[in-house]
Amino acid sequence: VKEAYVGCTVIGCGKALPKLSVSNDDLAKIVDTSDEWIVKRTGIHERRIAISESSTDLASAACSAALGAEGGSIEASSWNLGQVDPESIDLLICMTITPDATIPCQASLIKMRLGLSNAVAFDLNAACSGCVYGITVAENMMRASQSAPGACNPIRRALVVGVERLSRIVDWTDRATCVLFGDGAGAVLLEWNESRKGIISSFLKNTDDVELTLSRANMFNRALFPFDEAGVAAQSNDAAYDCAIPVTEYIGMAGRTVFKFATAAMREAIDAVLERGDMTVDQVARIVPHQANERIIAHVAKKMEAPLDLFQVSIGSSANTSAASALMALCDAYCQGRIAQGDNVVMAGFGGGLTSGAVLFEA
Ligand code: ACO
Repeated sequence: VKEAYVGCTVIGCGKALPKLSVSNDDLAKIVDTSDEWIVKRTGIHERRIAISESSTDLASAACSAALGAEGGSIEASSWNLGQVDPESIDLLICMTITPDATIPCQASLIKMRLGLSNAVAFDLNAACSGCVYGITVAENMMRASQSAPGACNPIRRALVVGVERLSRIVDWTDRATCVLFGDGAGAVLLEWNESRKGIISSFLKNTDDVELTLSRANMFNRALFPFDEAGVAAQSNDAAYDCAIPVTEYIGMAGRTVFKFATAAMREAIDAVLERGDMTVDQVARIVPHQANERIIAHVAKKMEAPLDLFQVSIGSSANTSAASALMALCDAYCQGRIAQGDNVVMAGFGGGLTSGAVLFEA
């Protein structure tokens, strides 16, 4: 491994879940579906839904767990190398498509809640690929601050957290989408340590989603500016606004097209990080993919001629939690003893945008 790709290590991770568990049978009471259909097509058995928990509550609990702090009232699990002082965190990146607010951003709300008084905090939206985008941005900011000290903010410790309350943007009358998603948060704590390898390589990609196979765009449906294009004051804010993005209040998805994109994109991303890290798949101990559908993961495993058991599959109990999913699965892998120090681990994602990517690190 080239020296230039050494130093940003994983020292903790956390996962937080809302209290309410909703089974497939529960959903069969509100839409025309069945436990059999959902399990067979997706591998999902249940999902957690946030009724009273906010994105700030869930993300803060996941971050606290990653820092090794005592748990609060939210159900959380964690793995870490030791307790870390919140004031030592220099950077907090939050990936989400369901923040509690857009101003302040979700990361600022978490920073306030946890007393991360020295952290720079901002949000990042790469939909379900958020995890690999967030880790890559954090790693690059850390690396830049090490190689050019004084030129930018010094960053030695970073929290990267994904949180979603997708239950707020799901159409609960649409059986094709409502059975797929859930709520939760996952976090990873990164530390600069040149005596360890840490993150070895990464790969990010954005493919034009010309057919809008994954979308939600309700904020573009009306012009709020009270003048028309000729500068004449509008009679009302209801004036139709010509916009290239169709109005979609809820998550919209062309399932089969997404399936095809997902399998190809994940494979491409995994192959790319292995090539950049000068490694082959048999040197990898665990692949932690975005959890959208167990069949997508199985398909990728088959195409790579790798055993399905190499892949972390956590979708059964928490469904697709978008930007949180791979980080929640990473925490599961550590907690289940599926990742040991020195192991090579790949994280991979795909999502709306269309975004995709992967990160290879030594645990
Ligand atoms: N229960 C019962 N029947 C259903 C359900 C349901 N919940 N949903 C759809 N059906 C029906 C359809 O109406 C269709 O019926 P028809 O044949 O009478 O028209 C039939 O099942 C087959 O539907 P398909 O959509 O063709 O089913 P498919 O095998 O493709 O599975 C699925 C659908 C699970 C959505 C699959 O395409 C998939 O996983 N795609 C990828 C989705 C994904 O990854 N999304 C998220 C990625 S991005 C992100 O994470 C935000």
